[in-house]
Amino acid sequence: MTFHVKKLLYGGYGLAQKEGKSLMVEYALPGEVVEVQVYQEKKDHAFARAVKVLLPSPARREAPCPYYQLCGGCQLQHMEYPAQLKAKEEILLETLERIGKLKPKGMEEPLHRGEFGYRVRVQLKVSEGRLGFFERKSHRIVEIDQCLLLHPAINDLIPSLKELSKKLKTLKEVHVLYSPQEKEFLLKLLLEEAPPKEKFEKWLEHTLPPQVVGVGLYRQGRVYALGRDFTFVSVAPYRYRVSMDSFLQVNHLLWEDFVRHALPPGKFSRALELHCGIGFFSLSLAQRCEFLTAYDSNRSAIRDAEYNARINSVSNASFHYETGLGALKRHAGEVVDLLFLDPPRSGLSQGEAQLILKNRPRQVVYVSCEPTTLARDLKVLAKGGYELQSLRLVDNFPNTYHIEAIAQLTLK
Ligand SMILES: C[S@@+](CC[C@H](N)C(=O)[O-])C[C@H]1O[C@@H](n2cnc3c(N)ncnc32)[C@H](O)[C@@H]1O
Repeated sequence: MTFHVKKLLYGGYGLAQKEGKSLMVEYALPGEVVEVQVYQEKKDHAFARAVKVLLPSPARREAPCPYYQLCGGCQLQHMEYPAQLKAKEEILLETLERIGKLKPKGMEEPLHRGEFGYRVRVQLKVSEGRLGFFERKSHRIVEIDQCLLLHPAINDLIPSLKELSKKLKTLKEVHVLYSPQEKEFLLKLLLEEAPPKEKFEKWLEHTLPPQVVGVGLYRQGRVYALGRDFTFVSVAPYRYRVSMDSFLQVNHLLWEDFVRHALPPGKFSRALELHCGIGFFSLSLAQRCEFLTAYDSNRSAIRDAEYNARINSVSNASFHYETGLGALKRHAGEVVDLLFLDPPRSGLSQGEAQLILKNRPRQVVYVSCEPTTLARDLKVLAKGGYELQSLRLVDNFPNTYHIEAIAQLTLK
């Protein structure tokens, strides 16, 4: 069966039509005519894979990675990078319009740097001693020797991680965090059963290089940790402590640009931040405010953020362990002139969106890693009187379908 692909969808699928149904075609590009194999039929749509490209797009390229299409990590490597950026912008705008009924007043230039070697944080899967990533839509493992998205230092560590995977029979995942400034690693090992601490410590000394400064073993929660629990990263002009259990933005090539462009123009007297993590945006944000109060529901991140404010001499910000909802309740009725949000993929809860409309901060910055929840939440805020002043794509995840964006809103 051959089909004409109309456009690219969120998720990395090419969209075609099949007997009135939407056909979502993996590894197909807009404008292409492809032969497909349908692998799943639903009531109003179906999923297929492009098996032969009869008319290729000028944006098509040979994927540089040898595991592409086997490994589920990347969806867009067969597309030239400038075309990826353009497609992501279109998807972002289309999602906002379809779900949110919104158009930004201004579209800013996308933020991007390199398309490879950008990840300093990765979760590798392990099964029966094999280390790699899951196949697309499966829990089968594609064993890898390296991944082009990773910082080269993480790739250099992979042989040691493979040895570790062979030794630890119940290992399920290895989470790696690399600090490009300190040139050191933290590892989180997720296992079904942790080996005895003393024995494992001795064994590790001979298996992992000295640049691995901390290893935590987890089974549901943490069982024990060896070495250091944290490392440091720099995002000019600041230095940040990041603990094993805290969040860190994955794309180190964009760290500085991301912070700079997320800051809204102007000065603020009273600012709130709801998902502050280690203070990644907070330290710069505090320079624009008389006082910043920041919250996160992760204790480890809040401890890091407090520490980071201290070592960087930022004294006009305070950090609290609290959910977004709890934070908004605490500040009900206060005059706030800036609210800064960076929620996980699930976006805001209904309660949070409603409380924002009650508090009515003059300006809102919403950093999002999921366009569908961004569109849903902005729709509520727009109904409550906010205008979407500008939108910017931040390409934190080149070669994958993931979309990060910064939305700037003001109260009408
Ligand atoms: C995408 S991360 C962003 C963190 C930080 N802004 C950064 O750039 O490093 C989302 C953060 O939201 C926090 N979080 C998740 N659910 C939350 C909630 N209900 N209330 C407050 N914070 C939450 C997580 O702990 C995490 O630190």
